[in-house]
Parts: sequence; structure tokens; C-alpha cells
Amino acid sequence: MKLLYFALLTGLLALAACGKAAEVPDPADGPVAIVIPEKLDDLVAAADAKKGEELFAAKGCKACHKLDGTKLVGPGLQAVSQRRSVPWMARMMLKPEVMVQTDAEAKKLLAAYMTQMANQNVAADTELPHLLAYLKTL
Ligand code: HEC
Repeated sequence: MKLLYFALLTGLLALAACGKAAEVPDPADGPVAIVIPEKLDDLVAAADAKKGEELFAAKGCKACHKLDGTKLVGPGLQAVSQRRSVPWMARMMLKPEVMVQTDAEAKKLLAAYMTQMANQNVAADTELPHLLAYLKTL
């Protein structure tokens, strides 16, 4: 009887582990068709916010975004990481033109700002993590 109980328990544990491995995508993270780097959270944690700040200027983000809460061409980015997840922001930076067509939140932004964010050719591996680290400081 004890053995049966043990077998059941390990079975349940294995099931729980499986469930965790096959993560269900969160719709709040944006469409999964836009591929973002694996282990993005780790990459962002290891990234350099200062470099991100430089990229933010070099990539022309400043032309459309203020750092406080006020609107320019696009939304002010103050505390943006509190209203958006890291994967969502990543997808917005990599494929804004796809986001405004397919993502519910991005569609709302386009309706409100009436300009489509320009694709700034952000490199997913060398630029994206730094930009995200910077956005998290705002
Ligand atoms: C031509 C103007 C323009 C440029 C350049 C631009 N954006 Fe945007 N951005 C927008 C607009 C407009 C939106 C709102 C969505 C839409 O209408 O496309 C937006 C949305 C965003 C959002 C979501 C904001 C929120 O409140 O949820 C983030 C994050 C963002 N942009 C980051 C960036 C970064 C980083 C860059 C530079 C790599 C950049 N943007 C360059 C215009 C721009």
C-alpha cells in the first residue's frame, strides 16, 4: 500500500514537472509568431542599461518617445515596464508593424496615437537586451 502511494506521488510530481516544461504562452506577452531570444530574462539581467540608453538615442527612439509620462509621437515611456511584460516590449521593438496588426494592446495604442511605430531594425541578440535593461530603469 505504501509503495502504491509512493508510485502515485512520483507520478504526480513528474506530471507537474512536465506541465512546467511545456509553458503555455501568455497572450499578454504578444503574438508568439514574433520570435524573441530564448532566456530573454537572463540576457536582460546581464545586459547594460547604459548601453541601452545610448542605443535609445542612436536608434532614433528619442524622436518619438519622451521619458516621462507625456506623449510625443508615441507614448511616454515612464514606468513602461510596469504596464508591459519584457517579452511584449521585445516583440514591439522587433516587429512593431506586426504587433499593431495582431496584438490587442498594440492595436489600442495605434488607435490612440494614430502613427505606426517605425521598425528601427533592433538586433535581437546584440541590441535588444540592452534596450530592455534601459526601459526597465524608466
Ligand atoms: C516614428 C516614431 C517612433 C519611433 C522611431 C519609435 N517608436 Fe516606439 N512607439 C511609437 C508609437 C506611435 C507607439 C504606439 C504604437 C503604435 O501606434 O505603433 C510606440 C510604442 C512603443 C512602446 C510601447 C509603449 C507602451 O506604452 O506600451 C515601446 C516600449 C516602444 N515604442 C519603444 C521604442 C523603442 C525602444 C524605440 C527605438 C528602438 C522606438 N520605440 C522607436 C513610435 C515610435
